[in-house]
Amino acid sequence: MSIVSMASRRPDAAAPALSRRDACVEPPQPILKWAGGKRSLLPDLCARLPARFERYYEPFFGGGALFFHLLPDVARLSDVNSELIDLYRVTRDSVEELIEDLRTHRYERGYYYAMRATDPRTLGPVQRASRTIYLNRTCFNGLYRVNRRGQFNVPMGRYQDPVICQADRLRAASQALAGVDLRDADFTWVLDEARAGDFVYFDPPYQPVSRTANFTSYARGDFGEKDQAHLAEVFSALASRGVHCMLSNSDTPLVRDLYGEFRCERVFAPRAISRRGDGRQSVAEVIVLSYDP
Ligand SMILES: C[S@@+](CC[C@H](N)C(=O)[O-])C[C@H]1O[C@@H](n2cnc3c(N)ncnc32)[C@H](O)[C@@H]1O
Repeated sequence: MSIVSMASRRPDAAAPALSRRDACVEPPQPILKWAGGKRSLLPDLCARLPARFERYYEPFFGGGALFFHLLPDVARLSDVNSELIDLYRVTRDSVEELIEDLRTHRYERGYYYAMRATDPRTLGPVQRASRTIYLNRTCFNGLYRVNRRGQFNVPMGRYQDPVICQADRLRAASQALAGVDLRDADFTWVLDEARAGDFVYFDPPYQPVSRTANFTSYARGDFGEKDQAHLAEVFSALASRGVHCMLSNSDTPLVRDLYGEFRCERVFAPRAISRRGDGRQSVAEVIVLSYDP
């Protein structure tokens, strides 16, 4: 049985004629390179899913590696980065226009910096999403970083011939996102909505393991210790309500302390974010569970 049918289909619901996975032109995959993306951790996460669940929540969506792998029947996804969520909405609702616009971009220095300097608020939704994907595919390491004024400030990356428009992948993502609820919001909204039997996967910006590894800023404002503590309170409140919660984070004393009452399992996964781009190494991470998998 696939992970989808085992873990996320409602046990008492009649099987839909066409599942989200069957409807996809190719197996869906993340459409962005995203710092902290969870592709390399997928086996560890999948080995620890709840046996079954109702609705799926992912409030730190980013590149959405787990969602695109699981394709749950009912999903509510969010991220505080509104540019990111707008891009997923356009992918869901207007994928052919997006593909058409992406085909007009060029990988050239002058073009890159002109596109980077363009104020996204002056663009329509499709052009804005297309700009975001273009910058993600061509900037240094696929990083997303903005300055205090919210302007994207990552330099151009060095690539041979970067693929800017992955048409089939975008179409697959569009089908995967069909009918999915997408919100630009702080993670706390799940407290108001998740019910017993639902599954929430939290993948926050990681608690830094050292002063040189502190990539915690994906949008304006960092995710500091206070936010980590607030998140632990939300996790705990949901768990006490019977919501299945899973969280990934770095294995630090603070994280161990915040989740001391829960099952914490140490795993190792390659991480690829460092200031010089050469910091690819395995680091200890922790998966916290509010349930027995
Ligand atoms: C580690 S990344 C998630 C990676 C994702 N799981 C993947 O596979 O690509 C963390 C995400 O949290 C988002 N974020 C940061 N602060 C947030 C907040 N307060 N509420 C919701 N999302 C937040 C960032 O924009 C970023 O996309």
